Amino acid sequence: MKAALYDRYGPAREVLRVEDVERPEPGPGEVRVKVQVSGVNPTDWKSRSGATPRPVDGFQIPHHDGAGVIDAVGGGVDPGRIGQRVWLWLAAAGRRWGTAAQWTVVPEGLAIPLPEGASAQLGASLGVPAVTAHRCLFADGPIDGKTVLVAGGAGAVGHFAIELAKHAGARVVTTVSGPDKAELAAKAGADLVVNYREPGAADQIGSFAGASGVYRVVEVALGANLELDLAVLTRPDARIVCYAAEPADPVLPVRACMNANVVLRFVLLYGVPADALGQAARDISAALAAGALTELPVTRFPLDEIAAAQDAVEAGAVGKVLVDLPA
Ligand SMILES: NC(=O)c1ccc[n+]([C@@H]2O[C@H](COP(=O)([O-])OP(=O)(O)OC[C@H]3O[C@@H](n4cnc5c(N)ncnc54)[C@H](OP(=O)(O)O)[C@@H]3O)[C@@H](O)[C@H]2O)c1
Repeated sequence: MKAALYDRYGPAREVLRVEDVERPEPGPGEVRVKVQVSGVNPTDWKSRSGATPRPVDGFQIPHHDGAGVIDAVGGGVDPGRIGQRVWLWLAAAGRRWGTAAQWTVVPEGLAIPLPEGASAQLGASLGVPAVTAHRCLFADGPIDGKTVLVAGGAGAVGHFAIELAKHAGARVVTTVSGPDKAELAAKAGADLVVNYREPGAADQIGSFAGASGVYRVVEVALGANLELDLAVLTRPDARIVCYAAEPADPVLPVRACMNANVVLRFVLLYGVPADALGQAARDISAALAAGALTELPVTRFPLDEIAAAQDAVEAGAVGKVLVDLPA
């Protein structure tokens, strides 16, 4: 099969190459998927660059996310799954068989049925962003009827955080840096979109939250936004859930955090407990089936241009970057 791979860390154009690799067979409990679309996330270029190094098992086919069709199953897996359209998540976590190849093998729980009507492009966009968004929203219990602030609502995680929060019955306010991103965040269903670069952002968020206050913040830039977050957190059970590292670690204003009685939570997908991941996959499937999850604008690359695809994500492409696999 054709696969993109690397066997050492470095810049995309130096270490990524497309080669013929022997097609993998599914082991016990695994399914093999004929991949149609591979989704690229920041974690993929960070791993490949060596920014978050993990041992390479001979070679690494990158990318956790994807969509395709199951064409073989290993022992203990219902053969009725053959032919099922699926979305894939965490395919490359601890395994060499990422989704940037014509076929991948994954434990069957990482291949989730894609409902009729949901495109492969949407399926390949879900994994890392939607599961991360789910963990940030629900790690501390239900949010129905509560006000949630999603920082960066036009980002991939932010987009699915808005949609999952709305689907769960929350009121959602989100922040963006400009009008194009505001349009994306509004389209995702945010009740209020605020430009965090303009004065008055905290007042707008505070008025929207009203007397009951902001309950949860899904935070992409803790250092940049902590002052804003603390200004709008007025209830003692409020939480800021941070899922991204900035170039420099923030200094924690302890007195201001004490005054807000705030709880800080951090999320890294690779360490989320298995039961929470399973619940995320079930809830995302239910939201998908209900039509509550939508596509972001996409930029597509053929497999041969995988280095450009990863570079586009590193450069901060708006929307999702996808890689199309040869038939
Ligand atoms: N912890 C985990 O397990 C996990 C999982 C997924 C992703 N991540 C990390 O999360 C980050 C985002 O991932 P992604 O896939 O969503 O990336 P993305 O699609 O590029 O979105 C990032 C968004 O954050 C916005 N942003 C940046 N600074 C901001 C600020 N101060 N306030 C509000 N919004 C701000 C950006 O827009 P503007 O710059 O225009 O505001 C952009 O829309 C990456 O660093 C990624 O590695 C971590």
